[in-house]
Amino acid sequence: MKSKKVSESMIEMREMVMPHHTNPQNTIFGGTVMSWVDIAAAMCAAKHCNKPVVTVHVDELHFISPIKIGEHVLIKASINYVGKSSMVIGVKVQSENPYFNEIKTTTRAFLTFVALDSNGNPTEVPAIEIENEVERRRYENAKKRVAAAKKLREGLEK
Ligand SMILES: CC(C)(COP(=O)(O)OP(=O)(O)OC[C@H]1O[C@@H](n2cnc3c(N)ncnc32)[C@H](O)[C@@H]1OP(=O)(O)O)[C@@H](O)C(=O)NCCC(=O)NCCS
Repeated sequence: MKSKKVSESMIEMREMVMPHHTNPQNTIFGGTVMSWVDIAAAMCAAKHCNKPVVTVHVDELHFISPIKIGEHVLIKASINYVGKSSMVIGVKVQSENPYFNEIKTTTRAFLTFVALDSNGNPTEVPAIEIENEVERRRYENAKKRVAAAKKLREGLEK
């Protein structure tokens, strides 16, 4: 199977925080952000493998700062690492105040997706072609995260 560049599957989405997206503090509801993160990451994974994908694990999700009503939300997803049928996607969410052009990173997340064949079983995905130092760092960090999570899962009592 031919390997693919990280840049071939990058996703950028934009949203605007409307009243129905907010919590009682009038900032964005975390579940709304999680949904956008999952959608952007799923599109990135599907674009990498050109197959249907499902979310199998949310490896990390950090809420760093709130997003205010009326602000723009920029969601960027890129593939960090692949196994045999699994893909780790990194997502960065930023808020942009449209009046001052102020941009803040508000959320960082890493999710694992699995590619499915026509019978709904895990199927092989293309390898990643690393092209620069940022992609190399993300690949090595994701590799460590995957190994640590696997070790933890295996070590936990059932
Ligand atoms: C995805 C699914 C088909 C995988 O089935 P499975 O029996 O675990 O398959 P496997 O054991 O062969 O694992 C497949 C891959 O997923 C990875 N995986 C499985 N469980 C995982 C977990 N909890 N965290 C991270 N990776 C996991 C495996 O390491 C393997 O990776 P590899 O092929 O790159 O080595 C099954 O778990 C499923 O259907 N889950 C529900 C998905 C879903 O409904 N998501 C929500 C809506 S999108």
